[in-house]
Amino acid sequence: MKMCVIGAGYVGLATGVMFGKLGHEVTCADIDGSRVKSVNAGKLPFYEPPLEKELAKLVRAGKLRATTDVVKSAKESKFIFLCVQTPSLPSGRIDVRPVKAASRSIAKALKSCSDFKIVVMKSTVVPSTTDSIVKPILEAGSGKVAGKDFGLCMNPEFLQEGSALKDSMEPSRIVVGSTDKRSGKELMRLYAPIKTDKIRTDLRSAEMVKYTSNSFLATKISFANEIANMCVRFGIDSELVLKAAGKDPRIGPLFLKPGLGFGGSCLPKDVKALKDKARSEDYNSRLLTALLAINESQPAEGVRLLESEIGDLRGKRIAVLGLAFKGGVDDIRETRAVPLVTSLLAKGANVVAFDPMAMGNFIKLMPTINYASSAAECLKDADGCIVQADWAKFKKLGKKEFSKMKNAVVVDGRRCLDPEVVERAGAKYLGIGYGKPR
Ligand code: NAD
Ligand code: UGA
Repeated sequence: MKMCVIGAGYVGLATGVMFGKLGHEVTCADIDGSRVKSVNAGKLPFYEPPLEKELAKLVRAGKLRATTDVVKSAKESKFIFLCVQTPSLPSGRIDVRPVKAASRSIAKALKSCSDFKIVVMKSTVVPSTTDSIVKPILEAGSGKVAGKDFGLCMNPEFLQEGSALKDSMEPSRIVVGSTDKRSGKELMRLYAPIKTDKIRTDLRSAEMVKYTSNSFLATKISFANEIANMCVRFGIDSELVLKAAGKDPRIGPLFLKPGLGFGGSCLPKDVKALKDKARSEDYNSRLLTALLAINESQPAEGVRLLESEIGDLRGKRIAVLGLAFKGGVDDIRETRAVPLVTSLLAKGANVVAFDPMAMGNFIKLMPTINYASSAAECLKDADGCIVQADWAKFKKLGKKEFSKMKNAVVVDGRRCLDPEVVERAGAKYLGIGYGKPR
């Protein structure tokens, strides 16, 4: 089957590779010529090694290609997946301009085709967007009727960066929202080889499932941070407490890891968008407001721990390890490293930073701080260190690296290090939510 994904980002490329692996002929259409060039060379425009390996195989086999001709690729496809970005505006509302532009391109394609094509909305959009923004653009631009001349579905994406391919091939569930029975049924058939729970809904419910999921994940993280902030003040290690609480199947063990707050391209954006959407319908979500406020103050909790040990930060050399929004990716969208570094600089610290993959992206954002070429170089002569992203390789840091610090104080902002290992290496360990019995 021929299909196209519009938007060669995380979601578009993971979707494209997944369908390519299932044997379909995939075109990835993007307005960004450099992305298209990169995909056609078998290279991802971001760091996601397992996805890149499969992408390269499909490109070599002629099963997947990229193009800047969005209209032509839509014309030639039976399924058209809309996967463009929906970033936050300053109000928290999503910016639907990319969705509108992509919908206009699809409408042009629909106008000149006589076959029944199915447009699948995969971008995260607030309830009613597919129905009240995408559908009218498609109908007006094509002169055709949704449900009669073409199909329209909403199929939210739940992948995590760092495991994009695995999450696409083995999703926890597939949600298919549609208004007409035919397109929902055909999309379900397309997903038949993926064995997981499949839920059929209307368009708005499918949109709301995505916001419910991300808001709940964000709630869990902020709740864990709230408990952790209390534990550290009570002289209790929150790790054990949260682990024991998470054993209750009604609570669950995942997404209860305290840290410097949640970043990334989606959790902050989606919680703000849902809050804004609720406000537009005269509902004030106190829960979403509170969890965002907790998230905003978490980087300061890391700085507070550092100050509790080394005092005034003026003129002190502080090493920041990890700049990506989490370990294992090079994505810096909404990374907590920005408020963290900003706060350290405001306190007069001399910041030196390192990240295994995200440094190139971060330098563009904060060009004036110092950067090191390795974690060891970053730690050398530092008065203190804060771990901001949970890269696996930071766990291997030991005496060799910590002994090079002027003052071996390590604030574990992601609870990813082993306190005993750090202390055996001669460094002082302080972690978010790590309180030792007094
Ligand atoms: P991204 O920014 O990585 O990629 C979007 C791509 O769309 C870009 O390459 C851009 O050039 C292209 N684009 C923009 N306008 C276009 C147009 N008119 N025609 C063709 N291409 C166009 O975005 P992403 O991270 O893949 O996210 C896409 C959507 O999926 C968002 O709504 C996001 O909230 C949602 N989502 C993202 C993730 C994730 O892990 N990144 C997971 C689940 C859902
Ligand atoms: C998140 C969701 O997990 C995906 O299901 C969703 O599809 C995606 O957003 C999306 O809609 O884009 P992702 O952005 O890749 O995926 O990142 P997560 O792994 O969820 O981490 C987000 C942030 O929360 C990171 O900063 C991470 O460090 C932090 N986090 C995560 C914690 O602080 N504690 C935890 O226990 C888990």
